[in-house]
Amino acid sequence: MNPFDFYLPVEIIFGTGSVEKIGNIAKRFGFKAMIITGKKSAKESGALYAVLESLEKVGIKDILVFDRVEPNPTDKQVNDASQIAVKEKVDFIIGLGGGSSLDVAKAVSIVSSNEGYAWDYVNYPEGPRLIPFLNRPVICIPTTAGTGSEVNRYSVISNPIRKEKLVISHSLNYPKVALIDPALTKTMSPYLTAITGIDAFIHALESFTNRAYNPMADELAIRAVRIIKEWLPIAVKDPENMKARERMSYASMLAGIAIDKKRVALIHAMEHPLSAHYPNIAHGEGLAALAVAITEFNYRGNPEKYELFAEAMGYERKASKAVNAVLDLLKSVDLTPNLRSLGVKKESIEKLTEDVCMLSWHSFKINPVEPTPEDIYRLYETAYG
Ligand SMILES: [Fe+2]
Repeated sequence: MNPFDFYLPVEIIFGTGSVEKIGNIAKRFGFKAMIITGKKSAKESGALYAVLESLEKVGIKDILVFDRVEPNPTDKQVNDASQIAVKEKVDFIIGLGGGSSLDVAKAVSIVSSNEGYAWDYVNYPEGPRLIPFLNRPVICIPTTAGTGSEVNRYSVISNPIRKEKLVISHSLNYPKVALIDPALTKTMSPYLTAITGIDAFIHALESFTNRAYNPMADELAIRAVRIIKEWLPIAVKDPENMKARERMSYASMLAGIAIDKKRVALIHAMEHPLSAHYPNIAHGEGLAALAVAITEFNYRGNPEKYELFAEAMGYERKASKAVNAVLDLLKSVDLTPNLRSLGVKKESIEKLTEDVCMLSWHSFKINPVEPTPEDIYRLYETAYG
């Protein structure tokens, strides 16, 4: 075996009903909390009140709620929340919600503890402008099952002025604790369940099949593939099915760790410019629109891995069957958009291609097949429909 490493400084607390433990977990980090969440869902589902109640029980009463996080969160949201965290001398941060809230919470930890603004810390291919050296403790409580952000070092942030979507990726960007309570995902609509679940699925697929080497991460990724194949369609059809919700929270966590070690690949590299230019497109919708065309392009570049993937999906052990496996799973959760149906203008394919090549070329080497700009253009065209 080749050498590999596995660093994961995140305490994982997993279990239905575990949100009630937040007070006891939080008190080791201080007395003044900032909860970062979205506008509605954590309130409507009751998750926010469950967290507040548990915090108050242990005497944490000084709590700020920043509830302005939106899907495809922006650098401005991070900067605004960071300013408040500094001014109010917040001890620790709780990210409560979908991937957007968790990503913002982690980024606020970095930005509020160091100099500069969110965009100084994002990874252009040349690297970030500033390197953080401090952070505030963060506890992540996901209310969707897909992002995996609760267990990894990534925050995906959009800059609407530059129309760029980039990632903060740093060892200080790990949360201290991932508190994963699958019951919090029960109120997700079937559609949200599908688009977030497909995100987890693509994390597992891309980390398993790319050319980065980490056998331990592969174990997690292929396990996640098997679980998602079996349980995502059930979670979509039967939202109250707690067994399905638990399995999806677990698989999403496994896949979130796998991408921390092996990163993603071309499907994510091509999705990010999409939702940067079209912020109304959800990450999972963009991934779903691109996944089949890119799997068709990729499987010849790493046939052994795609064979195992196809087999894990219940298909014949043949690399080309990976394409059927991806398409059939998307169909089974009724998520088969193309770029046209998502409202993408055909003329923007050139700019999207340029952005992938400018902002994500560093990931091309680990993609199963190293793409050229022409390949990327053609793949967007295929996905256009
Ligand atoms: Fe993703």
